[in-house]
Amino acid sequence: MKVLAATTNKGKIQEISDILARAGVSIVSLTELGLKLDVIEDGETFEANAIKKALAFREASGMHALADDSGLCVDALGGAPGVYSARYAGEQAHDQDNIALLLKRLSGIQDRSARFVCVAALALKDGRVITARGEFPGVIIDTPRGTGGFGYDPIFLDPVTGKTFAELSRDEKNRMSHRHRALEALREEWLKVQG
Ligand code: IMP
Repeated sequence: MKVLAATTNKGKIQEISDILARAGVSIVSLTELGLKLDVIEDGETFEANAIKKALAFREASGMHALADDSGLCVDALGGAPGVYSARYAGEQAHDQDNIALLLKRLSGIQDRSARFVCVAALALKDGRVITARGEFPGVIIDTPRGTGGFGYDPIFLDPVTGKTFAELSRDEKNRMSHRHRALEALREEWLKVQG
């Protein structure tokens, strides 16, 4: 089965291909199809945004389409920044601005527990939509560490390895991330749906 991956991020495409190949899925990229589409992510949940993107790309391509939406949820902030993770400090915000605002909002707060969340949605040509969620729990630290990754990685510490996500190699992060977990769960769902 061929599935369009609704992302231009090469790392994500590779990761999606690796995981879904084991369910007999072969991934087609937007570049291969020459497809460009801007979908406004204005949903209030990760599910809503992932489904909106998957449906828009299925509509535009006529293919099965896979999309994801992800972000950081901090317990002491009631789950913020959540779906607003990319633009927490404003529409044009850079990663450093978002990190600075998050640390400001957390200053003096003891509870540092947080989780990265990813929801993957697969819109099938027959109209069905399958979704799956992956989460990775961690804690927010005050001083950024590491140079890898992106977004909130330098302040997100995995208590098990004692490393921030920015201190992990790309392979290490990809093998354990919320995105990986969502894709693994999606593969399981897909195999179940097929019977
Ligand atoms: P998107 O779902 O790829 O658009 O990600 C939304 C935003 O969530 C990103 O811009 C980051 O701020 C944050 N985010 C999602 N996944 C990660 C991650 O693995 N590390 C760090 N930040 C992330």
